[in-house]
Amino acid sequence: MRTMDRRDFTASFLGALGTLALPVHLPWQTGLRVDGSRISAHLALLSELGKNPQGGISRVAYSEADHQARELAMGWMREARLDPTVDAAGNIVGRRAGRDPSLKPLVIGSHIDSVPEGGNYDGQVGSAGAIEVARTLDAGGVTLRHPLEVMIFQNEEGGTIGSHAIAAGLTTEELDRVAQGGKTIREGIRFLDGDPDRIDSARRTKGDIAGYVELHIEQGGILDERKIRIGIVEGIVGIRHWEVTIEGFANHAGTTPMNGRKDALLVAAWCVEAVNRIVRSVPGRQVGTVGKLRVEPGAYNVIPGRVVFGVELRDLDDTKVTGLWRRIEAECRRHAEAAGTRFTASENLAIMPALTDPRFRRAISDAARKLGLSTLSLPSGAGHDAQEMSRLGPMGMIFVPSVGGISHSPKEFTRPEDIENGANVLLQVLLDLDGA
Ligand code: HGY
Ligand code: MN
Ligand code: MN
Repeated sequence: MRTMDRRDFTASFLGALGTLALPVHLPWQTGLRVDGSRISAHLALLSELGKNPQGGISRVAYSEADHQARELAMGWMREARLDPTVDAAGNIVGRRAGRDPSLKPLVIGSHIDSVPEGGNYDGQVGSAGAIEVARTLDAGGVTLRHPLEVMIFQNEEGGTIGSHAIAAGLTTEELDRVAQGGKTIREGIRFLDGDPDRIDSARRTKGDIAGYVELHIEQGGILDERKIRIGIVEGIVGIRHWEVTIEGFANHAGTTPMNGRKDALLVAAWCVEAVNRIVRSVPGRQVGTVGKLRVEPGAYNVIPGRVVFGVELRDLDDTKVTGLWRRIEAECRRHAEAAGTRFTASENLAIMPALTDPRFRRAISDAARKLGLSTLSLPSGAGHDAQEMSRLGPMGMIFVPSVGGISHSPKEFTRPEDIENGANVLLQVLLDLDGA
């Protein structure tokens, strides 16, 4: 019979102690701390997949680099003694049983896909941190009362696609939409070993989880400017996208007089200015962006005949977003008609705002205080999988500082000690919610 070495004995003894139906966790459990150097090592390995020469990564969803990063993460899940599988929607789910099988799972996680020319921390801090929390619990012989799930959602940057598939399902039209990397979402899910033909089997409904907590970089500059260590997220903004098309008349740039043109790009330029002016015209923290624009045929000597551009509006209040869009649409239509062109618009993304759960906010505040970390409550101007998961149960988000408030950029940076702090807060929040 293999003699049990000290470490195994300790883990099994602590594990045995932990299986007692204790309503709360013992001091040695709440004294557990993550291994910050292992999180940093994992982030460094992730930063090599989809690496850009100028720094940062372009690990867009459904790319080869995305697939490789997921394989790496599943290996770390196995080391943490989670049982990783890929659901029909292409999300990675690492599971561990709890002491009480009648309880719903506590879920933690994030994403590891990135925007083109993005940074090394958006989503990755929460994913590597969540796996490390699971590993720390295992090494400390702690079995939670609740089942534990660590999730890495697919294609968060494309509009929280993986978490939306779980919380609301994906329509045929959504599955056939072409994602940033060129595959359709249907093809991408298959590429990630999901099964789009059984997409509904990934669906969950309200009450299927005990709660969801996500660790994420702030992506704004508030915590960094005020030297605050932990952000307690109050709510996550809604995000809505419209694709706008201006149909003019392509004609010779040299022979067409200035008063005889139907210049689609001129109208689009007026619309872009209107988005900025109208969004700034009302008080509040709403934002509006035109981040992509295509000009056809796109030549020096041809008057643009057609322009397609994207409008994005975000705010915690969806009613305000609707009101802003109505004003933008009306003004754009007036410009288009005055120039003899045609305006059409279609909404192609509507992620609703989500408020965090007060109990989860208190747990984050208590955990940070226990760890001697300063906190600040703030909204999230970035969208997250957490807002989709909030449809299934109570949700909380923990922010750590983004240096200079830079994100979606190769210059994105979060200090290792802040990442370790965030993961330790996540660990303590999990123990708190589990004991509750
Ligand atoms: O775009 C966002 O807000 C998020 O980073 N995907
Ligand atoms: Mn993110
Ligand atoms: Mn992002």
